[in-house]
Amino acid sequence: MSAKAACRPVITVDGPTASGKSTIARRIAELYGLPFLDTGLLYRAVARRLLDEGRDPADAEAAVEAARSLRPEELGRPDLHTEEVSQAASRVAAIPEVRAALLEFQRRFAEQPRGAVLAGRDTGTVVCPDAPVKLFVTASVEERARRRFEQLRRRGEPAIFARVLEELEERDRRDTQRAVAPLRAAPDALVIDTTHRSVEETLELVRRHIEAWRARSCSSHAPPEAP
Ligand code: C5P
Repeated sequence: MSAKAACRPVITVDGPTASGKSTIARRIAELYGLPFLDTGLLYRAVARRLLDEGRDPADAEAAVEAARSLRPEELGRPDLHTEEVSQAASRVAAIPEVRAALLEFQRRFAEQPRGAVLAGRDTGTVVCPDAPVKLFVTASVEERARRRFEQLRRRGEPAIFARVLEELEERDRRDTQRAVAPLRAAPDALVIDTTHRSVEETLELVRRHIEAWRARSCSSHAPPEAP
């Protein structure tokens, strides 16, 4: 691998629902001026399509068809974050052919010359197993439910804490127990528990980790690139 390729920042951020991974990933992308992909939006957009068409999210044939014909503008739909879509997304995400259909797009995104930040469940294990910087962001299930509950309340959506907790546990179960690309930390990922950490504290930890990698891999003493 050339010195330049070894130094290309591909940063993966995986973790369970409401662990804070998307916030951290977005902030890191801003900090380093890198393109960012929230891969959960792909599964949400597929789920949204099925719900709009009145289909069952477990209908593999329809889900695969939706995944194959997904258009980038569908990722920007404002109605991808309802609880109904969240639950349906974790169902379509358990269908191997849906995952296969979405893999190429994610890999192409990661291959951009200046690097990329990807957030999801399997970006460090399946999508970019060779990424030089991998993070696994987690938090206790109670803390994650509390965050989701507060988020819903701020948006003015009625919520019952016990129900939020239950739905989160259900999604965790589906994401960690599915046969293909289950949620788990890559062996070489930095695991960060954000239960008792603020966003700024977590960011500082991540920033130091990235800087240490850069110091190791992007040294100015590296031999110049061959023409
Ligand atoms: O991250 P987010 O909550 O938006 O993801 C929605 C669902 O999409 C998750 O519950 C998970 O089932 C699925 N997903 C996945 N792999 C990814 C990203 C999301 O299976 N890389």
